[in-house]
Amino acid sequence: MKLYYKDDIAIASHALKAGELVAFPTETVYGLGAIANSEEAVRKVFMVKGRPSDNPLIVHVASPQQAMKLANLTDQQKEAFNALTSAFWPGPLTLVVPVLASTFAKSATGGLQTVGMRMPDQPMTLKLIEEVGFPLVGPSANISGKPSPTEVAHVLNDFNGKIAGILVDQDSRIGVESTVLDLCETPFTILRPGKITLQDLQYACPNFIFKDFTWENFGQKDQPKAPGMKYRHYSPKQPVLGVSAENLMQTIDYYKEQNLFVAATKEVLEKLSSTKAIKLYSLGENSEQATHNLYKALRDADQTENISYIIVELLPDEEGNQAYRNRLEKASSKIIE
Ligand code: TXA
Ligand code: MG
Repeated sequence: MKLYYKDDIAIASHALKAGELVAFPTETVYGLGAIANSEEAVRKVFMVKGRPSDNPLIVHVASPQQAMKLANLTDQQKEAFNALTSAFWPGPLTLVVPVLASTFAKSATGGLQTVGMRMPDQPMTLKLIEEVGFPLVGPSANISGKPSPTEVAHVLNDFNGKIAGILVDQDSRIGVESTVLDLCETPFTILRPGKITLQDLQYACPNFIFKDFTWENFGQKDQPKAPGMKYRHYSPKQPVLGVSAENLMQTIDYYKEQNLFVAATKEVLEKLSSTKAIKLYSLGENSEQATHNLYKALRDADQTENISYIIVELLPDEEGNQAYRNRLEKASSKIIE
């Protein structure tokens, strides 16, 4: 198991070309990379993560041109693709587009005729993809069901000795996975909320109509649009309660006989510091910092001894908080709004 630094990109790319797995940094979370045209390499990703095989992977490209060559787009989709990639790539936006069968390993797409593509905002990783010469699959580099990794230590925790290595950079800046946007049908639909919001998309590309994923058009169908949505995610071992700032004090009081791990933004936390809660964890000063720190907090809670409940502040239902709320809701066994 190697740690690769920026001068080792050629070595890391050799490992990938030989079908090995290399984790790589991105601005959202760390990804678990494998060359996307090797069935054997991609299968290893599913195996080592313990990921269900019907949940397809995102492929990471080095440029919009590389993505365009591999996608099978109508004229309207091309126009949208160009507008969106010039506005948001490199960046935390994954575009689900049609592809011809056999472009990528079958297990990467879960047998679908579509694929999610994104160009990460991470110069070293872009260089790595260029050197490999073909896109890399890159689900978050965590054991399936655990919180996604936002720093090298998290990746080591889950995969030490099980993959060829990790391309090392600083902690992921954003802290939650990219926005996934489906370009296969109109209106274009957000399948997974992320840093880039519905308003951001609509503002940057006013000629197209976008809509948010809603629970009404999901769940009833056998085959959910974003297969990942049906899985519980990001969960530590102990039950997580997502609780609004207003209800935090009361909830802590209710569970006061238990050992608690309480994560909240600084201002909210300061009001709580007189309580007996075992461990108080600051998520930072604002929602951006809280988003950056959410997975780290869940991992820290997971590693704290003798915790019975993990209580995490649920940010209000406002523009910019959707990704945070979505991930916390998925991690939680109970939401107290
Ligand atoms: O920020 C990110 O996107 C991170 C970093 C490492 O880049 N990657 C990531 O990949 O989160 P992954 O594979 O864990 O997430 C893929 C998501 C899942 O929810 C999956 O169901 C959905 O995208 N997805 C992938 N291919 C799809 C497709 N063809 N149609 C619909 N949804 C798809
Ligand atoms: Mg993931």
